[in-house]
Amino acid sequence: MQREYKIAVIPGDGTGPEVIREGLKVLKAVAKKYNFKYETKVFDWGGAYYLKTAKTLEDKDIEDLKRFSAIYLGAIGDPQVKTGILERGILLKIRFSLDQYINLRPVRLYDSRFCPLKDKEPEDIDFVVVRENTEGLYKGIGEFRNKDTPEEVAIQISYNTYKGIERCIRYAFEYCRRRNKKKRVTLCGKTNVLTYAWDLWERVFYEVAKDYPDIQTDYTHVDATCMWMIKNPEWFDVIVTDNMFGDIITDLGAMLQGGLGIAAGGNINPQGISMFEPIGGSAPKYTGQNIINPLAAICALAMMLENLGEIQASQAVENAVIKVATTKLKSLSAGKMGYSTEEVGDLVVENL
Ligand code: IPM
Ligand code: MG
Repeated sequence: MQREYKIAVIPGDGTGPEVIREGLKVLKAVAKKYNFKYETKVFDWGGAYYLKTAKTLEDKDIEDLKRFSAIYLGAIGDPQVKTGILERGILLKIRFSLDQYINLRPVRLYDSRFCPLKDKEPEDIDFVVVRENTEGLYKGIGEFRNKDTPEEVAIQISYNTYKGIERCIRYAFEYCRRRNKKKRVTLCGKTNVLTYAWDLWERVFYEVAKDYPDIQTDYTHVDATCMWMIKNPEWFDVIVTDNMFGDIITDLGAMLQGGLGIAAGGNINPQGISMFEPIGGSAPKYTGQNIINPLAAICALAMMLENLGEIQASQAVENAVIKVATTKLKSLSAGKMGYSTEEVGDLVVENL
């Protein structure tokens, strides 16, 4: 049977379109090689669209997205638009409306040259963060009281449901089992201070763990997690955490890999439509210069292919990325690769 996919492409803002272009170039080549078909539809949501139409994403756009096999996103965020509008109106709206409750962010070092830590080898930095992606502080619950007065109070609530935590933690254990490496799931939280949210997280964690006797459990506070990520990153296998902590520690994780130029993530609804993106953001200062690293977007493509069931194609893309990164690039950072954005995309295609 012919495998065929419909991909919604949202290039978005800043350098998003430049890196997505390279990702699509790789998709075209890998589809030919592994004999599957796909159609893409490009959506122009983002800063420019908002400035023109005063619209972010409407409910009918979400309905439209439901027709696709997956979503491939560049970046959302434009300095000309008040911060938060596009992030909440597009990126978070998709994550929430499509119930993409897992944000899966692998942290993998491909070459010790790229790591800011001394004496760390690729085998030392190889873990995955499972970030809860629809709740916590991101839920947007809160209020101002006595706004614009010296008595002002701003309240921002972290919203955590048993069901939301349970499905996230269970995903982490399942993923850990499939990954079959160190077989350890670490809960990253803050039980010593955030005594409601993390009490529930901790209870659910140990309850779910009972179903996985083959997997070790561990707990670290989020501050200590940051310390251990630098001191002993080799201890980690799968880290599971809430939305806010996951956001923070995955930027730190990206640095261990060599920068945001290589870090990719998947916003996953295991029963629905998932969205894949480089995690670096729109990088306005590099826009239009053909110097941004497209490998993160290409790694996001590899994650998307895996999610679609194109395992061989996904592996081939990741292997090509590894080859290009380790044998060609001087650095993974924008402007320092020794190649342009387009050339890096071409190199990946040549190495498929
Ligand atoms: C990320 C980003 C987003 C987040 C922003 C752009 C809203 O930092 O994907 O990590 O906070 O989730
Ligand atoms: Mg982030």
